[in-house]
Amino acid sequence: MKKAHRLDNITFSRIRMQSKLVDQMEAEGKDMIRFTWGEPDFMTPDYIKEAAKKAIDDNFTKYSDYCGPLNFRKAVCDKYERENGLRFEPDQVISTVGAAQAAYLVLTTFLDPGDEIIIPNPVFNIYKMIAGICGAVVREYALKEENEFQIDIEELEGLLTKKTKMIVICSPNNPLGSVLTRENMEAVAELVKDRDILICSDEIYERLTYDGVQAVSPANIPSLYEKTIIINGFSKAFAMTGWRFGYVITPKHLWEPLYLHAGFQVSGLPSFILEAGAVALNDEAKYGTVEKMRASFDERRKYLVKEINAMKHFSCLTPKGAFYVFMNIKKTGMTSDEFVDWLVQNYGVAVITGNCFGSEGEGFVRISYASSMEDIQKSCRLLHEADQALG
Ligand SMILES: Cc1ncc(COP(=O)(O)O)c(C=O)c1O
Repeated sequence: MKKAHRLDNITFSRIRMQSKLVDQMEAEGKDMIRFTWGEPDFMTPDYIKEAAKKAIDDNFTKYSDYCGPLNFRKAVCDKYERENGLRFEPDQVISTVGAAQAAYLVLTTFLDPGDEIIIPNPVFNIYKMIAGICGAVVREYALKEENEFQIDIEELEGLLTKKTKMIVICSPNNPLGSVLTRENMEAVAELVKDRDILICSDEIYERLTYDGVQAVSPANIPSLYEKTIIINGFSKAFAMTGWRFGYVITPKHLWEPLYLHAGFQVSGLPSFILEAGAVALNDEAKYGTVEKMRASFDERRKYLVKEINAMKHFSCLTPKGAFYVFMNIKKTGMTSDEFVDWLVQNYGVAVITGNCFGSEGEGFVRISYASSMEDIQKSCRLLHEADQALG
């Protein structure tokens, strides 16, 4: 039996494939340090685990609404009002199976074959793949190191056509760790203000920013509020990757098709998880868990950036968000693939090739510093050795 044509251009995640290779090497007895997965090394905070256990005991074990119960959706609205200065109503929120399914829901709800979607290059690769499943035409705007990974507005303007239906924004960005400035976001707003274009804003890292920088949502720009669909979730800031828990916040006029479609994609999340999600958001300030993790990431970030920029063949911009350093390896003379292979084989340090996030990532590798300080220090010693071996 042949698979459906909509899967013709879909490939497995290279992050997962590269991680599997590392698993294999580890199984063969090699000592490895992994900076491959975008997964916090912290455990889910206890107050959230307790809330989930209690919810099971309290019999939150029945079907949930396709968009999640009111208390969960209200908790999302309260969070956005409190932390992001944005007012939403509960009937603008839909629960999803992680931010990944949120992206699937949003793109497959609005993109028809032949529609055009503009995505960042580089970016976490689900957007390109899901757009491919929709049969949409993907155009890409480059986020370049020499522009501090900000959007080149002229370039973006040149990509707009009558068929453009959606622009994806990811800030803080995976793999870059960059955060778009308010001015940059305002320039995007100016560009699309008279066009019927949706902004899909991936905000999964919005709580993880540094040096006093705050992530601005496109919805914070008044003219974009009615155009912006927000994707967010619990994986990163709450260390809940395995819970598979996220949400969409949509302008009211776009809610109905998303809700309708959500009913057929996953038909609602487990009720006890949704209850725990409401507690996670409502009580977070009481425990300060996000801030503790953020502060720890910040310490690792500063250490890693300083070490990298002290080496001859490697360099990086100081990331302002997420937990990634996008390390420039162009001075090594190797391609990203060659470098990743060389580093893992000779030094046991596993990183991800920049080009698996888009062509602009060639010449870079992504280092996830959501790993222990001990591993980061050890890997820096190994990176120094590698740097010296290159001459
Ligand atoms: C930018 C971005 N969006 C979405 C996701 C998916 O997150 P989730 O675990 O919530 O599905 C990730 C995960 O790495 C990501 O980096």
